[in-house]
Amino acid sequence: MLKLDAFLIEGGRKLKGSVRISGSKNAALPCLFASLLTDDVCVIENVPDLRDIRTAVALLQQLGKKVVRKNSRVEIGPARRLQHHASYDLVRRMRASVVVMGPLLARLGKARVSLPGGCSIGARPINFHLQAFKKLGAAIRVEEGYVEATAPVLRGRRIRFPFPSVGATENALMAAVLAEGKTVLLNAAREPEIQDLAECLRSMGARIHGHGTGTIVIDGVPSLHGTRHVVIPDRIEAGTFLAAAAITRGRLLLRRVNPAHLSAVLNALRRAGLRLEVGRSEILAAWTKPLRPVSLKTRVYPGFPTDMQAQWMALMATVNGKSRITETIFENRFLHAQELLRMGAAIDIRGAAAVIEGGRRLSGCPLMVSDLRAGAALVLAGLAAQGRTKVLRVYHLDRGYERMERKLRAVGARIRRIAQ
Ligand code: EPZ
Repeated sequence: MLKLDAFLIEGGRKLKGSVRISGSKNAALPCLFASLLTDDVCVIENVPDLRDIRTAVALLQQLGKKVVRKNSRVEIGPARRLQHHASYDLVRRMRASVVVMGPLLARLGKARVSLPGGCSIGARPINFHLQAFKKLGAAIRVEEGYVEATAPVLRGRRIRFPFPSVGATENALMAAVLAEGKTVLLNAAREPEIQDLAECLRSMGARIHGHGTGTIVIDGVPSLHGTRHVVIPDRIEAGTFLAAAAITRGRLLLRRVNPAHLSAVLNALRRAGLRLEVGRSEILAAWTKPLRPVSLKTRVYPGFPTDMQAQWMALMATVNGKSRITETIFENRFLHAQELLRMGAAIDIRGAAAVIEGGRRLSGCPLMVSDLRAGAALVLAGLAAQGRTKVLRVYHLDRGYERMERKLRAVGARIRRIAQ
């Protein structure tokens, strides 16, 4: 049974100290799945200890892989017999499981993966993934809640995505690395997590160019070999801690970050008036004066990430003045606004935009988390609020933030986990 832990937060403490940022969840997941493309040993390092990573490991095991995990190092050995079936039980726990489809199709010529269904932040269909597989020569069938792709051979093609979807780009990339001939992915996603996956695949012998741009060129190879790959730092965890420094009027040094991946978030914080000192792999964020409201729109990379939108809303709710946040990636990603209203924030949702009259004093109360980043926003609001906040359903946070409450406590937050 799911443990329904909650966080209890006593708000109003300035955070001070240093935080080590973990490896990226959204980069580690596809890198782990890339191991399906070979029978050699793959070692993936800097993997955060999260619920989603445990689901990914369970899925690899279900597919027949031998997985050994030691701290942040995951070693994936050969499969006795690689399976092609990803069950509903695991896919419903984590949508990113659909990204096993590309590598399975490339390796086995077939993949049967449960359709993930909708999620609280949007419908999130996988039509772009399936269109890409079809282009490469796969036949697609949907039956009994499963999508089945079969292709005796995959052939390289030009594939133009209608939208630069992160998951579809990852799936197409992993199908194409073992396809015959050249594949060109146009309007591909440019997120750092895609770049990291491409680097991981290259270290396995794949021939990939142009990752990090909208056009990725893949020359198929007959087979891939094992690798040792170190996952990039989690830019969203880093952004969340920067927001924590700002919202608590504190001073935090973030270690083991890649500031280049955070430019949109750093720009927004700078415009708001937060003092930032950026090093090669460190960022110092210090509140020195009252912040200004900053309006923004979420965009694909290098724009402001949708995964930081909720945290930005929490911050803007505490800053004097009016700001506007427009969500352009997901159609229902404002569920945190309703909870922030209950704390006393003034937020008006108008379609894809939220207008925030910031500066009202937030007061602690029980809050319900609807999804991972909404949860992060509510924790931030709780840290800034007067009184006690109880954040319910923190299992959403456990999917994507490694030891969040311990990291926050270490820099002065009064937060503890309680069992419900
Ligand atoms: C990835 O999801 C991330 N997840 C998300 O992070 C992130 O919010 C998102 O990219 C956008 O940056 C992982 O990497 C595991 P998309 P993904 O395909 O790949 C539409 C978090 O909090 N779309 O780029 O699912 C879709 O509905 C999570 O860590 C289609 O219409 O995102 C959405 O509106 C949440 N058809 C938009 O594109 C498709 O076939 C972007 O989705 C695919 C996507």
